[in-house]
Amino acid sequence: MAERNQQCAACHPDVAAEWQGSPHQRSDRGEAYRRAYSREPLAMCRGCHAPEADPRREPPEPLSLLGVGCVTCHLSGDTVLAAPRSQELTREIAPHPIRRVPAFAGAGACAGCHEFPFPDGALRADHALMQSTVSEHAASEHRHVPCASCHMPARGEGRRHHGFSREDRTAALRDAIVVASRRLPQGSVEVRLELRGVGHALPTGDLFRRIEISAEAFSDEYVRVAEDARYLTRHFHPAGKSGAPRRQRHDDRLGADGQTVRVVRLPLGQAAAPLPIAWRVAYQRLAHPAGDDDDHAVVESEVTIAQGILPAHEGEPP
Ligand code: HEC
Ligand code: HEC
Ligand code: HEC
Ligand code: HEC
Ligand code: HEC
Repeated sequence: MAERNQQCAACHPDVAAEWQGSPHQRSDRGEAYRRAYSREPLAMCRGCHAPEADPRREPPEPLSLLGVGCVTCHLSGDTVLAAPRSQELTREIAPHPIRRVPAFAGAGACAGCHEFPFPDGALRADHALMQSTVSEHAASEHRHVPCASCHMPARGEGRRHHGFSREDRTAALRDAIVVASRRLPQGSVEVRLELRGVGHALPTGDLFRRIEISAEAFSDEYVRVAEDARYLTRHFHPAGKSGAPRRQRHDDRLGADGQTVRVVRLPLGQAAAPLPIAWRVAYQRLAHPAGDDDDHAVVESEVTIAQGILPAHEGEPP
């Protein structure tokens, strides 16, 4: 399949250049995946992260480098799947059969990989999903907007970007979450977060992500007097004895259950009342596996979405 993929790339060089280096091409090479996989090296992981290789063993180098390739998304036997077009010109000039299927223009092109149960799914009475982006999309106000409309921006006549880019990730996250903050009496802070233009919960996908909302009060000598934090994520019960699967306690991610607004209160206490309070909202990726204790999870990387300082004597609620 690696050779077959090179043929696609040779005839579609502009698409290939975008795909090269994308999270799909690097699905078996990414740092975060490699770290997680070294702890949990299951055939199931290989089936998705190196989908062209035999999942029973470590993927050979060329198929590891292929990752999620042109052939993975587009090929059904010898036929190339494509999105429907109003004008059919390409079928005549393409040197390969093309089948235009409506599902390929919708979540169907992504569903096989972006939603799946836990590896121990059979043991779970609640049939919990490890990733549920496709169901979240179906329940979102943007359910009629195909994944590709947001993740594969149009590039002129019939072309869509294949980079599934992360370059402007920070800007994209800042656009996606609108944040407002205010002081409440007795040293409390209220932070309001609203999800905008995202067709699923945020974070979605991989479990080891969360949004942190934190606040600290400092004295005049910059000594921290009080602090507090909350996490929007899928919260799980602590791991049971005898390896029983962990069950989800609750899900307060932005957009989960159609709730696109979350209002979080951080009571720093009376000691903070006369002091300025610094607050921050961050999108964090955690080390695998995350601890059961939210406050002591190891943060691998983070993006600050918004931050500010609320002075003591202003902004008192009306
Ligand atoms: C020998 C050159 C050649 C090879 C090999 C080739 N293609 Fe194409 N393909 C074309 C041409 C020419 C067209 C029609 C013009 C266009 O859309 O670029 C086309 C059309 C397509 C389309 C439809 C575009 C549309 O109009 O929606 C898709 C999708 C596609 N190719 C994917 C692939 C994939 C995936 C592979 C590898 C399995 C592949 N191609 C291999 C030359 C090639
Ligand atoms: C993650 C899945 C995925 C991968 C990997 C992928 N494609 Fe696509 N591709 C799509 C989807 C989905 C569309 C159609 C989007 C739409 O128009 O709704 C598409 C559209 C196309 C088109 C139509 C014209 C355009 O640019 O939109 C061509 C040609 C194409 N892909 C070729 C390739 C080639 C060549 C590769 C490998 C270098 C590749 N694709 C890798 C999912 C993928
Ligand atoms: C064959 C399986 C497969 C298909 C089909 C697929 N993906 Fe992916 N996708 C993956 C994997 C695996 C990763 C994770 C790569 C990594 O480890 O970083 C990924 C990563 C992504 C990312 C980057 C996530 C991040 O954290 O930055 C986006 C966005 C994405 N996919 C969107 C899509 C969309 C939209 C479609 C449908 C058009 C699609 N994918 C189809 C397997 C797939
Ligand atoms: C209305 C626009 C929109 C639609 C529709 C949409 N997404 Fe997203 N998606 C976003 C935005 C915005 C982000 C956050 C910024 C980023 O990571 O690029 C995001 C993030 C992601 C991520 C990264 C995970 C994370 O928590 O940061 C994945 C994976 C993803 N989307 C997959 C999908 C899939 C699969 C579909 C279809 C089932 C889809 N998206 C539909 C806008 C959309
Ligand atoms: C059914 C397909 C599928 C299976 C099985 C799967 N993954 Fe993934 N994985 C994905 C998709 C799709 C993404 C991209 C969504 C995202 O980034 O949130 C992803 C993302 C990840 C990420 C985040 C990558 C990054 O760069 O942020 C890690 C880590 C990861 N997977 C580890 C694993 C491990 C370890 C296993 C096996 C226990 C596994 N995955 C099994 C589809 C799968």
